[in-house]
Amino acid sequence: MVHLAGLKLALLFGTLSGTYAAGLVKLPVRASVASPSAPLGNKISKLTVSVTTGNDQTFDNVLVDTGSSLLWVGASSPYVPGPNSKDTGETFGVEYDEGSATGLVYLDTVTIGSATVTNQYIGAANQTSLLADLDPLDGFIGLSFNGSNAHTISGIDGPTNTFFDSLVEEGVIEQALWSMVVPALDVAAGQQVGEGEILFGGYDASKVEGDIAWLDVTNEFDQFTWAFNMDAIYFGDSQISNDDFVFAYTDSGNIWLSLNIDSYLAVQKSVPGAAGASIGPAGEIMAFPANASLADLPSISYSMAGQNFTLTPEQYVMPSSAYATFGITDDGRHYTWFASAGSQADAILGQAWLQYFYSIYDVGNTKIGFANYA
Ligand SMILES: *[C@@H]1O[C@H](CO)[C@@H](O)[C@H](O)[C@H]1NC(C)=O
Ligand SMILES: *[C@@H]1O[C@H](CO)[C@@H](O)[C@H](O)[C@H]1NC(C)=O
Ligand SMILES: *[C@@H]1O[C@H](CO)[C@@H](O)[C@H](O)[C@H]1NC(C)=O
Ligand SMILES: *[C@@H]1O[C@H](CO)[C@@H](O)[C@H](O)[C@H]1NC(C)=O
Repeated sequence: MVHLAGLKLALLFGTLSGTYAAGLVKLPVRASVASPSAPLGNKISKLTVSVTTGNDQTFDNVLVDTGSSLLWVGASSPYVPGPNSKDTGETFGVEYDEGSATGLVYLDTVTIGSATVTNQYIGAANQTSLLADLDPLDGFIGLSFNGSNAHTISGIDGPTNTFFDSLVEEGVIEQALWSMVVPALDVAAGQQVGEGEILFGGYDASKVEGDIAWLDVTNEFDQFTWAFNMDAIYFGDSQISNDDFVFAYTDSGNIWLSLNIDSYLAVQKSVPGAAGASIGPAGEIMAFPANASLADLPSISYSMAGQNFTLTPEQYVMPSSAYATFGITDDGRHYTWFASAGSQADAILGQAWLQYFYSIYDVGNTKIGFANYA
C-alpha cells in the first residue's frame, strides 16, 4: 500500500497547463486536487480548529476529537441558520467523558481552513454541560469512524457522515486519509509555540522523520475508535504492560496519558512517594513527590510496530503553568499527565502524547500511523 504525502498527492493529480513554445521554458504546474488543510490550535486542555458555518459565523474553539464522530457548535454562542442551512427537523444528543450536548440538527455548508463541504450534518446546541477546563468551547468536531455517531441524531438509524466523510463523498479529497501536526506547548509558559495543522487527503512527508509505524485499527473497543495493539510499554527499562498484548487507542479529545491499573501502579511503585491526586471532576492523576528530580525520573516508551515512541519526564510531567486549568494547587509536587484508564484500555494516548508525534489517520484502509516529527 502506498501512502502518498499531501504534497506528492497534489503533484500526482496535478494538471499541466501553459504554453510550450520552442525554447520557451514555462511549465506552470497547477494542482487540480490540492490537499486542504486547517490550522490546529493547542490550548493546553484541548486541540481546536475554527469552523465557519451557519449565518457566516466562525466558531474558533471547536474541539478536535478523534474519540467521537459528530460535528456540533453553539456551546458559547448560538448557531444561527444562514443562506445554506437546511433545518432537518431532527435533534441530536451526545455524551462524552467530559459532559454532554443536545440541540437541533441542520444540513449546512461547513468550512474548516481550506476544506469546505456543502452537505454536512451539524448540531446546533441549545443545551450543554461540559467540564469547565474546556472553556472557552464552541463545540466538537468528531474525527473518529462514523459508526460511533449512530443513534445520536433522532430519526436516523445508522451513522451519518463525519466532516471527513463529507470531504471524501463530495470529492474534495481523493484519499480517505488525514493527518495532524499538533503544535508544541512552551512548557514553561503553557502556551502554544509554532504552527499546527490538520491536512485532509494526505500527509506531509517533510514533517515526518524516520519510519512511520503503521498499525491496524483493531476496533476491539467499540468498533469505532482509533484503537490498535502496541507491543509493550516501558517505564525506564522495566516493562510495565501486560505480557500478551497492549490494547490501546488514541483520543485527541482527551488530554491524559492513561494506563491500565496494573501499569499505572507499576509507575507509582517505581517512584518512592508517588501517589494519586484527585483533581476534581477530571478524576485522579499521578503526582510525584517534590523531592523527585526530573533528571532522575525514567522516560516512558510506547513500543509499536517495532519502534519506541518515548516521552521524557519533561514531557510527561504537567507544566505548572497548566495547573490552574485543571484546578491544581501548586504544592511543590510534580503532577503528571498519567491517569488510570479504568477498564477501557491498557493505554490511551491523549493530547499530551499526540503533541510529540505526527499522527496519520487512514480511514480508507483502517490503519493508523505514528512517526517522529522532522
Ligand atoms: C432545545 O431544542 C429542543 C428542540 O426544539 C427543545 O425541545 C428544547 O426544549 C430546547 N432546549 C432549550 C434549553 O432551549
Ligand atoms: C461511514 O464510513 C464509511 C467507511 O469510511 C464510509 O464508507 C461511509 O460512506 C461513511 N458514511 C456513512 C453514512 O456510512
Ligand atoms: C524500547 O525501549 C525499551 C526500554 O528501554 C527496550 O527494552 C526495548 O528494546 C526498546 N524497543 C525497541 C523496539 O527499540
Ligand atoms: C521523597 O519523599 C517521599 C515522601 O514524600 C519519600 O517517600 C521518598 O523516600 C523521598 N525520596 C528521596 C530520594 O528522598
